[in-house]
Amino acid sequence: MALTIKQIHPVFVGEVSGVDLTRPLSREDVAAIADGMNRHAVLVFHGQDITDAQQIAFSLNFGELEVKARPGNIRKASESRLGAGIGDLSNLDKNGKIISGDDRQWFFKLGDRLWHSDSSYAEVPAKHSLLSARVVPSWGGNTDFADMRAAYDALDQRTKEEIEDLVCEHSLIHSRAAVGFTDLTPEEIASFRPVRQRLVRVHPETGRKSLFLSAHAGAIEGWTIPEARSFLRDLTEHATQREFVHSHVWRQHDLVMWDNRATMHRARRFDRNEVRDMRRTTLAGNAPTIEQLAA
Ligand code: OGA
Ligand code: MN
Repeated sequence: MALTIKQIHPVFVGEVSGVDLTRPLSREDVAAIADGMNRHAVLVFHGQDITDAQQIAFSLNFGELEVKARPGNIRKASESRLGAGIGDLSNLDKNGKIISGDDRQWFFKLGDRLWHSDSSYAEVPAKHSLLSARVVPSWGGNTDFADMRAAYDALDQRTKEEIEDLVCEHSLIHSRAAVGFTDLTPEEIASFRPVRQRLVRVHPETGRKSLFLSAHAGAIEGWTIPEARSFLRDLTEHATQREFVHSHVWRQHDLVMWDNRATMHRARRFDRNEVRDMRRTTLAGNAPTIEQLAA
């Protein structure tokens, strides 16, 4: 069966059929998916009952796995439930038990409920993320996506000119403080020190501009904090209007792949007494946004 991609939202998101991600892909299928990513920024695959090793193998068709230059959470490697190369986006601990609602791991995870782009807190932020639903809760737990290219295009000319060369500071400290979690150790604070990111990105493959927003962004260089935060909130509200947003309702064995250079996403509520087992592979970006030539 030939691979086909159908756009399922007015501005982005393609639904892919005619491909089995558990098996090696043909060169044509890899090219069609890469092209689909550039076009739609989010691709949805249904019915992909894959193992961690198969998910890694599929991901490697599109780049290299992100090796974190700095930690993305407060969990020690020895506490991890899954093997190397797979990110644990579940609500489970090392032994497969549901994390308690008053555990700091859980508080930290709640930061994902805010709109963000993966590893924007790192000097070289992520390219693609691929999230596979192994166990889904009976209610809620959607993932929302927002098209930051469409959001950029819809800005008025004056705002576009004003933001063209702005640089923001991104840190996990800021996104966690935004949900009221500030109980970080001095070591964690040191490892989460802010990085600089351009506010307007140019996509290296399509040349399209987008707004590079994220809950991790807490400052704009040269601006006062109150001015910066109120403006970033305002831009985020603009960028996450209904017309730019798609809510993915998970079914078991869905795999969703998104371009962090062109979209934001957020996790939605579910009953935390039920298991939600989601596993992520992440592909590395190729350069700091700060090195991007003035567009
Ligand atoms: C992620 C993430 C959202 C979710 O995988 O990067 O933010 O719905 N997940 O679990
Ligand atoms: Mn994320």
